[in-house]
Amino acid sequence: MSPMFVPGPVDVNPAVLAAQAQPMLPHRSKEFEEIFQRCSEKARNLFFTNRRVFITTASGTGLQEAAVRNLAKQTVLSCVNGAFGKRWYEVAQTNGKQADLLEVEWGQPLLPEAVAEALRKKQYEVITLVHNETSTGVQNPVEQIAATVHEFSPDTLICVDAVSSLGGVKIEMDAWGLDLLLTSSQKCLALPPGLALAAVSDRAMAYAQGVPNRGWYFDLVRMEKHLNKDSTPATPALSLIFALDVQLERILGEGLEVRFKRHSDMASRVQDWSLAHGLGLFAAAGYRSQTVTTVTNTLNLDFYRLNEFLMAHDMRIANGYGSLKGKTFRIAHMGETQLEHIETLLASMNEFLA
Ligand SMILES: Cc1ncc(COP(=O)(O)O)c(C=O)c1O
Repeated sequence: MSPMFVPGPVDVNPAVLAAQAQPMLPHRSKEFEEIFQRCSEKARNLFFTNRRVFITTASGTGLQEAAVRNLAKQTVLSCVNGAFGKRWYEVAQTNGKQADLLEVEWGQPLLPEAVAEALRKKQYEVITLVHNETSTGVQNPVEQIAATVHEFSPDTLICVDAVSSLGGVKIEMDAWGLDLLLTSSQKCLALPPGLALAAVSDRAMAYAQGVPNRGWYFDLVRMEKHLNKDSTPATPALSLIFALDVQLERILGEGLEVRFKRHSDMASRVQDWSLAHGLGLFAAAGYRSQTVTTVTNTLNLDFYRLNEFLMAHDMRIANGYGSLKGKTFRIAHMGETQLEHIETLLASMNEFLA
């Protein structure tokens, strides 16, 4: 592996890469349906749900689109404190929904009080929010926000993007009462890009039945009919599903609690190192991501020189996202990355700083 300390795509274990080289199967065959069934079963553990988990041939943005198309006839409250929350807002708007923006300063968390205030002013069918803002390194308090939505607007469906955290951080779909929880394959699940997974609640499925213009490809109602037969409406990315089968086995074999602790240990190490070296942390204290650290470039380091130096040592980190480029850079600690890889990276960064 060539440690990619970037927030996706991340390194993929060689056994998982190799699983993709299996011969094709007809997707309408018993053999494939068994694999698909196994994957959806195992995936439920990651989402902490007893509900259905859809496995789609798409990236996470596709399921952001599915969420608003299936669950809102009109009204969406889009919570934003970073680039990916903003994207979901744009996805809602470009699908013709009446999306209202609840935006807080980037680097700060979305807090339940702000959500409660918005919900007091207007009734929304759907609220969208990002659990782990990969651009800013903020982890939003989704459990508390969900509790607030249940209290102030119990009919509002809660849609959560956990693209860069599910599988690295505990997110409890059923216990927190979430309605749609989505992720992509190429981040904490440490698979190649190309699959997106979403768990969906019963009440969200029931609501979707009455929503017009759900489209075809991402119609959850159509997808469920096929899922009940361990299948998909259209041809799935078979090779990626072979890899998913192997990787879910590895993830569950590691143990979810062990995996979550590994992520939080790596996060603490990177964050402590940054502060000890006079660098800043973009995310507010108490809300820092467990899977990616957005470092404020207070030392004015030349990011390109830094990354060239790291690449000469077979490693790489990521620049800031969008408008945060240059002002911040990002060190991801997700997927297959181990604390010892982080130590190697930080030793090289020490060398660069010296
Ligand atoms: C939090 C978050 N949401 C959504 C996306 C978009 O996901 P994808 O590239 O899988 O469509 C990303 C990608 O980095 C992300 O980090």
